[in-house]
Amino acid sequence: MPTVQNHPTTSIDSGRAALGALPPGGAHARASPSERAAIAAGLQGAAASISPKYFYDQRGSELFEDITGLPEYYPTRTEHALLRQHGGDIARAAGTGGVVIEPGAGSCEKARLLCRRLRASHFVGVDISEDFLHGAVARLRAALPGLDARAVGGDITAGVQLPPDIPRERRLVFYPGSSIGNFDPPQALRLLRHMHALALDGGGLLIGIDCPKDVAVLEAAYDDAAGVTAEFNRNVLAHVNRLIGSDFDPRQWRHRAFFNAAASRIEMHLEAMGPQRVRWPGGGRDFAACERIHTENSYKYPLPAFTALLREAGFGETRHWTDPRGWYALVHARA
Ligand code: AVJ
Repeated sequence: MPTVQNHPTTSIDSGRAALGALPPGGAHARASPSERAAIAAGLQGAAASISPKYFYDQRGSELFEDITGLPEYYPTRTEHALLRQHGGDIARAAGTGGVVIEPGAGSCEKARLLCRRLRASHFVGVDISEDFLHGAVARLRAALPGLDARAVGGDITAGVQLPPDIPRERRLVFYPGSSIGNFDPPQALRLLRHMHALALDGGGLLIGIDCPKDVAVLEAAYDDAAGVTAEFNRNVLAHVNRLIGSDFDPRQWRHRAFFNAAASRIEMHLEAMGPQRVRWPGGGRDFAACERIHTENSYKYPLPAFTALLREAGFGETRHWTDPRGWYALVHARA
């Protein structure tokens, strides 16, 4: 019988937050040796986990697009409505004619709306998926001819260098989608500090936050009736199979999503429908029936808790815009 090694748990961290959307064709078919080792370590941890960044292969990116249109998934449409309805106020708080910097820019869809509203002079999209970003930035340039739009390959969590000719005045870091929710609070604080450093003195941050609300509403948003989120969750196994050469059978794993009130986060897991033996070159793991793989955290911040985090990260005065039910908020903070 092959030996199944055990490694310490790696906590799941950055998901779409760090990654943005991936290019058509998804992630590279095979991960680098160090990435494969990190994935294997996550699978072999006492509590198995897979980082949510692996959701976004080609199929996963498409499924996420589908999620954003689901009746149960309120964040995307709520944020979009807030940007539209409060564009004038946001422009007054953030200032016009400056630089918009978007980490994890992906498709640059929301950036277009914001840059138009703010009459931005420059846009810098930052994403680890540089090829995809280049196409998106080219489309943004075509839509807003006056805008100096750039694509920068890089990971904001690692601290990113902007081109030297990007103005240092009136910088606005834009981090929509409640992507900050994928990070646990200490990681989120670190990321906010990076953003504060990027904004420089006189700049600011505009960030989307998903707030705590009725548990049934929250849980439905991550376990929709049509089963799209379940498919999105299971798809991570097909992606991992390609990345490390494992033999997961996604149909043998049940989607689980629930609100962890103590941690104020939605957790997504995959639960083995029966005993599973999973193998990949160099390793493997046996799972008992009902054993779980933790695939995502999505933190829900009460506004006061989030503004406290912003302050801790070095930001000053804040303003926010929220829907009548207080489900979602756009927050502007001065650097
Ligand atoms: C992209 C991290 C903001 O947490 O709501 C949606 C990802 N996962 N449905 C979120 C997600 C399941 C999403 N973020």
